Amino acid sequence: MSHAFQQCIHPDCQATFDLRQILTACPTCGSLLDIQYNWDEVAVPKSLKEFEKRWSTRLNPLDFSGVWRFRELLSFPKDEEIVTIGEGQTILQKNDRLASHVGMNPGTLFLQYEGQNPSGSFKDNGMTAASTHARMVGAKITACASTGNTSASLAIYAGVSGLFKCVVFIGSGKIAYGKLSQALDYGATTLQIRGDFDDALARVREVCDRHPIYLCNSVNPFRLEGQKTIMYRILEGLGWEVPDWILVPGGNLGNSSSFGKAFMELKQLGLIDRIPRLAIINAAGASTLDSLVNHKDLQWNDGKNDADLIRSYYDVMDRDDNRASTLASAIEINRPVNLVKALRALTVCDGVVRSVTDQEIVDARAMIAANGFGCEPASGATIAGLQRLRAEGVIAASDRVVCVLTGHQLKDPDLTVAYHMGDPRKRAEKLHPAGVTEFPFANPPIAVDNDVDAIVAALGL
Ligand code: F0G
Repeated sequence: MSHAFQQCIHPDCQATFDLRQILTACPTCGSLLDIQYNWDEVAVPKSLKEFEKRWSTRLNPLDFSGVWRFRELLSFPKDEEIVTIGEGQTILQKNDRLASHVGMNPGTLFLQYEGQNPSGSFKDNGMTAASTHARMVGAKITACASTGNTSASLAIYAGVSGLFKCVVFIGSGKIAYGKLSQALDYGATTLQIRGDFDDALARVREVCDRHPIYLCNSVNPFRLEGQKTIMYRILEGLGWEVPDWILVPGGNLGNSSSFGKAFMELKQLGLIDRIPRLAIINAAGASTLDSLVNHKDLQWNDGKNDADLIRSYYDVMDRDDNRASTLASAIEINRPVNLVKALRALTVCDGVVRSVTDQEIVDARAMIAANGFGCEPASGATIAGLQRLRAEGVIAASDRVVCVLTGHQLKDPDLTVAYHMGDPRKRAEKLHPAGVTEFPFANPPIAVDNDVDAIVAALGL
């Protein structure tokens, strides 16, 4: 076996599999899989600071990539197998104005802006890794189910590399237009399933089980390896100091899971001396993790978590036909496939889970934008969650906090325009049914005659 392998996360199983097997669950027990490394056989730098040297060799595409510049920490491919399109050129920015709005001290609040990726969301961090594995195993067709960003990312990697055809499964009427336009433009075969994301994911898994199509959803353990690097870049942005908190929106829980794994490994390798706390923020209309963790006491429990509890929760959800529903369409997911890995991340990171309403999400999103960072609604959940956790006293004003802004503002312009425009019909159509009735950050355009005096008057000059 090589220095890297796949392994079942269930403590009673822990079956291992070769890197070149295409798996999205353990064939023995059905649990999720991790990529594991024999670290003694990997030339991991002694200090994280050593990765900085690669800034001076950026003409090498692997050093240019914000994912593969950390390649020793995700060393499953050979260098020549890597599929990269320059992902991960993202930044950590201190935002004192936003900090003051949410009751944090100056110098404590940072935004990790993943909207800067080639396809406009954090997904590219994972898709470069999944595409690399797809190439390693000679896949010809890649596929995913998506609330929009995964499909945009999959399609861009297929389009730029020319290595694969790609098929994306989306729910009906459940995808923001910015994202749909990307999948169509990049040439993905796009299937609009009559159902929601949870249905689309169930169907794409069935199709990939039956046919030689490579699945790129976050049940793919290789994809999650790429997403670990978001955490490396945050540490880098803080001069390799560990923050007190990381806040991330929770949908399918791939990010949360990979962040937990990143910190677990860095600690094990002695590259950090402590692990930050993780806050996973659900939308109230898609709050399976919050319900199970905070109301049913579901815990990681060293991997021996209560599968019956999870099963009966889903049974009741099915019986009541309880569908996910939130304006933050990216995280409109009721059956998060990485639930169990997210429980592990919560334990590793002494984490918390909260849900926030759509009103809180759209206001937080608008507030982030008014302070210079455009992001989509799901990303707004982080600042809404921060406000909650500040109000509860869980996060202190002096804590150093990083919010991961997962997707770009232009992914969902309809919602932004409906929020700002003050058009009662648009608001009633889109926002009122979701319980959004207040618009404290609305910045509507001013209608004015085509006349200089009228314009000057409108400007109050
Ligand atoms: N934020 C954005 C912008 C997303 O697109 C997603 C997930 C999440 C947060 C949630 O991340 O699943 O790792 O918990 N979007 C997926 C998609 C589901 O299909 O694009 P997660």
